[in-house]
Amino acid sequence: MSSLLIAPSILAADFARFGPEVEAIDKAGADWVHVDVMDGHFVPNISFGPEVVRAIRPLTSKVLDVHLMIAPVDPYLPAFAEAGADIITVHAEAGPHLHRSLQTIRNLGKKAGVALNPGTPVSALEYVLDDVDLILVMSVNPGFGGQSFIPSAVDKVERVKALIADRPIVIEVDGGVTAQTAPAIVRAGARALVAGSAVFRGGESAYADNIAAIRRAG
Ligand code: DX5
Ligand code: ZN
Repeated sequence: MSSLLIAPSILAADFARFGPEVEAIDKAGADWVHVDVMDGHFVPNISFGPEVVRAIRPLTSKVLDVHLMIAPVDPYLPAFAEAGADIITVHAEAGPHLHRSLQTIRNLGKKAGVALNPGTPVSALEYVLDDVDLILVMSVNPGFGGQSFIPSAVDKVERVKALIADRPIVIEVDGGVTAQTAPAIVRAGARALVAGSAVFRGGESAYADNIAAIRRAG
């Protein structure tokens, strides 16, 4: 069984200090750096774009896990790839041509992910399973950090796990992940855990303990 991957979300970082914050979570033991991109249209909040990915790319050798909550998404895929993303995840609900978006990401030489909102059925994945490297199960409605974990995500992870069978696809969970919610998520089959507020609290000196607590719990 492969080990757990902890992906702190820089949406919860100090926006005036992205550089030091990324370096701090890198040193504190993050496996991936999760980058939440929001457009004020697909989700009711605006965060940042490809230039932030480009700015943090030289600061860490960790995987940049870019979660695009934008629609339309296709016109922006080359910019995020070129800025240095390693994984690019698009929402199944973000457009009519999910299969095309995934092919585009892979053709850009990046790992392709699909995200499912809490209300989106697992069946949305059925015909793209051979075109994805990662499935992101949202355990909050996307748009904001610091929300409460939606328990039905655990059942959804189990269903996704059954659906992917022996394909080498990583299941990631995003939203309300803490040391308390992590155990059930990992038991259900998730391998990557995104955490924003549970990592970026208590000041920089607490980040390593915060990451370790989630890892231990999982
Ligand atoms: C929600 C984002 C999440 C969010 C997680 O729209 O996709 O990545 O930052 O934040 P927490 O861990 O605070 O729920
Ligand atoms: Zn996210």
